[in-house]
Amino acid sequence: MISVFNHSFCIYFLLILILTFPKLSIQRTINENELECNPKGDSQKDQYIVGYGSLIKTFSKNRTYKNTGENMPVLINGYSRVWNCKGVSASLSTTYLGIVPKQNGTLNGVVFKIPNSNALEAYDERELFYCREEVDRDKISLLVSSSQTPANLPSGQFWIYVTKPQYTAFPTSEFPIVQSYVDTFLSGCLEMQGKHSLENFADDCIKTTEGWTNPWINDRIFPRRPFVYEPDAGKIDKLISKHLPKHFKTIKVEK
Ligand SMILES: *[C@@H]1O[C@H](CO)[C@@H](O)[C@H](O)[C@H]1NC(C)=O
Ligand SMILES: *[C@@H]1O[C@H](CO)[C@@H](O)[C@H](O)[C@H]1NC(C)=O
Repeated sequence: MISVFNHSFCIYFLLILILTFPKLSIQRTINENELECNPKGDSQKDQYIVGYGSLIKTFSKNRTYKNTGENMPVLINGYSRVWNCKGVSASLSTTYLGIVPKQNGTLNGVVFKIPNSNALEAYDERELFYCREEVDRDKISLLVSSSQTPANLPSGQFWIYVTKPQYTAFPTSEFPIVQSYVDTFLSGCLEMQGKHSLENFADDCIKTTEGWTNPWINDRIFPRRPFVYEPDAGKIDKLISKHLPKHFKTIKVEK
């Protein structure tokens, strides 16, 4: 009896060990990685996100959190924007825009204020393939139209999303550039250009992005009448054919 009891006690104890400890240690690693990847904001400082892809478009930015500050157009130094983020998913997928540090790199984008840490967490969840990194305020300059008096960038803590190493990859046929995402990006750039009377903001979105390439898939819902869903489709096509004529000719409709 005693030995049986000991035996089952041992098994019971072992089970507890196996079930409890690996879980604890896995949990701990995830939390540590999460915190390292997406650090807490300084509660003494106003919090801002620097957007350079779909976040430039107010409608897309709003989908994640409703009450953020208005998008303000900026130039960001010290990075370059690249097609380098593999969007892993269970179904058909794509390559998104990302950034990499680059000594003399410059790109245009937006900054917007976020009201609280819930909003920060919501954007972290959206930007799953990226780590949030703090940007020096002096690397960011506000773009204002010539008719406005020069304004200063507000003070605060500024965050930008950098592609995680494990998702860093250039477009391939399995992960192509897709037009619907290009449309979100460039219609956001056209929105900023119009709202702030900036002459070349949308052109600069293309020119300060590296790695435009094929495969590039036209996944617009109505490829022959794209304006039904994307009012800016004509302007976007004009921009692409102006700056990337070779690529424009090789954008393919998926069969
Ligand atoms: C985005 O949200 C703000 C409120 O934070 C609202 O004023 C604005 O109309 C919204 N814009 C779009 C395009 O969804
Ligand atoms: C960066 O720009 C500075 C000044 O314009 C120049 O001297 C330097 O060579 C550049 N560095 C690189 C890596 O391009």
